[in-house]
Amino acid sequence: MTLAQKVSLTAQQLPIDAHDGAAGYLAGIPSLCLPDLVFNDAGAGVGDGQINTTAFPDPIVQASTWDPQLDYAFGQALGAEAHAKGIDVQLAPGIETDRIPENGRNWEYMSEDPYLSGQIGAAEVRGIQSQHVIVTLKHFIANSQETDRGASGPPVDSADLSLRTLEELYAPQYDVAIHQGGAMGVMCAYNRINSIYACQNPETLKGVLLHQFGFPGFVVSDWGATHSTVPSALNGLDIEMNVSPGTYFGAALQRAVQSGAVPMRVLDSMVLRILRAEFAVGVVNDPPAAQPAAYAADVSTPDHIALARQISEEGSVLFKNADGILPLTAADRRIALIGTDAGPAGADLVYNAEGSGRVPEFGTNPAVVSPLTALTRRAAASGDTVLYADGSSLLDAETVARTASVAIVVVGNSESEGVDEPNLSFNGDTCTLIGVCVPPTVAPDALVSAVEAANPNTIVVLDTGEPVLMPWLAGAKALLEAFYPGQQDGVALASLLYGDVDPSGHLTETWPASQAAQPIQTAAQWPGVDRPGDPLGPHSAYSEGIFVGYRWYQAHHVRPQFPFGYGLSYTTFGLSHLVVRTRRRSDAATVSLAVTNTGTRPGAEVVQLYVHDPANTGEPPEQLKGFRRVFLDPGQSQTVTLRLTPVSFAHWSDRRRTWIVTPGRYGIAVGDSSAHLPLRRTIRRRWARLSPRAY
Ligand code: BGC
Repeated sequence: MTLAQKVSLTAQQLPIDAHDGAAGYLAGIPSLCLPDLVFNDAGAGVGDGQINTTAFPDPIVQASTWDPQLDYAFGQALGAEAHAKGIDVQLAPGIETDRIPENGRNWEYMSEDPYLSGQIGAAEVRGIQSQHVIVTLKHFIANSQETDRGASGPPVDSADLSLRTLEELYAPQYDVAIHQGGAMGVMCAYNRINSIYACQNPETLKGVLLHQFGFPGFVVSDWGATHSTVPSALNGLDIEMNVSPGTYFGAALQRAVQSGAVPMRVLDSMVLRILRAEFAVGVVNDPPAAQPAAYAADVSTPDHIALARQISEEGSVLFKNADGILPLTAADRRIALIGTDAGPAGADLVYNAEGSGRVPEFGTNPAVVSPLTALTRRAAASGDTVLYADGSSLLDAETVARTASVAIVVVGNSESEGVDEPNLSFNGDTCTLIGVCVPPTVAPDALVSAVEAANPNTIVVLDTGEPVLMPWLAGAKALLEAFYPGQQDGVALASLLYGDVDPSGHLTETWPASQAAQPIQTAAQWPGVDRPGDPLGPHSAYSEGIFVGYRWYQAHHVRPQFPFGYGLSYTTFGLSHLVVRTRRRSDAATVSLAVTNTGTRPGAEVVQLYVHDPANTGEPPEQLKGFRRVFLDPGQSQTVTLRLTPVSFAHWSDRRRTWIVTPGRYGIAVGDSSAHLPLRRTIRRRWARLSPRAY
């Protein structure tokens, strides 16, 4: 390759008309049989300006299924649609740790727990790349907030954290998605880490990703996250994606190579990483569909739409079900359905959140089935009728609720990339563009309280991407969180409400009981404070360290509103016969138990395994190290076996710069949420020093 050919692979090209609807592209080199590398967003389907693709549920729903097999199927569908749309790089999955409940992009991430994010993320990666489409894991790393995200220059927040915190809470999911999933792309983030930009950070990019993990693929910057030529190239960035393409790479990189500021072997290594990803994933052998036909093609299929529905059904979380009000089973009922988000106009806004993860971000909306349409149809089949009020008038809502036997109120917050929520209050905003959000005419708290006062049988359905405070919770008979359910919104909701399928989603994030009773308590933690002498932006101190999410609640004995891992079902399950096997010559362990459906309906249980390290390790009380989703018919029992590997018992030592196992007694706790772990044993572990690449 000539020098010009090499540098042409390192920077985005403009205009992108050649690839309508995409987020950006690198021109291929036809004489070398290298196709264009076309980048497109991705979290809930093939988004950006693409048309005729499936709008799947958002990543938070995908993760709430705790079902890696389903997420593999999702990845396959996403990869297949991308390939048929002429795209060979999907800008997903987002696997950062949910550190702050108010973070405006938690809906695009998976969990506050890195183990869960790693398992779900790796499954999605395998699915996408099976279709010869490269993934980019994002946004590397400690990308926990949108306030001062620095997408278009300062202020750019700095995530200030220790190596141990980074290694234990923010990095493991990348290790898993790379080594178990085979991910060949990583997107470095907008934020800084310990003052240094993520896309030129020697400690995180060169140190952790390249050296420690041995990542073989390419690193692409988030759009506008490249800030230099030489430090970026020397510290591991391979592709610059900028609003003004080629500011730092491309021709600027060519000059740096010619002057010797960037050695040719560094450029060769960048090119090698890009080409290795293209060959390994199959992009060169099987390039995506050609334009312009690909742009117009309808790539959504009945199977993909059915999959979107299944993910929404499996990922919705039932929080409360007093007096067994759900499922709706008796016939001849009058059902009041209330709320803008239940009608077509509102559903068009909350099926996905706002930002580059929305499908489509720009373009025509997909065929979203609203709760009103689907519930009316489903109710008719049971001889029920649905009366609708859009919730813009309290009086209308009360009147409809009063005349019905049961009232279902659907309320949402449509969150947006680019902005954090100011606090946990339920503001009911709808966002129509990145960062452009407007409040509703009637606040959701007022609407729900009014409906509850008018009808004692009130069921609340939430469409939120993050926890909200619910002052009216005691007055609701049932509470179901659908998050952002994708285009099959109403269809999935109706089947859950009627019990055609059993709710089986479990929370991937803790829901705080109040604004004060949660891990983030100071402005220094979030949104960060200015530091004298740093003109680039504020610093967020990750002073809670490894006590993120449920790890903090358990260590401080604080009861959340709903704990991590929690989720109800219409049936009941029993867990028994816990057996823990260890082998003398191995540091691994096998945990098995019996799961029984003790109720009267078919349903799925999510078995969760937590490990309790000895106190002298300084680790949080309990940490998720295994899980399995099990579907059972009434009376059916199944033995579940979960394997623990040496790293399940390890913590990071900053002094040794690797994972170590401290000798002592380790607790094994199994149950169906972080707050309900009825089966317990302890086992002994001996001292061990593991590899830094432990997953
Ligand atoms: C977002 C990325 C996205 C990129 C391209 C950025 O603003 O942070 O997640 O992939 O835009 O659309």
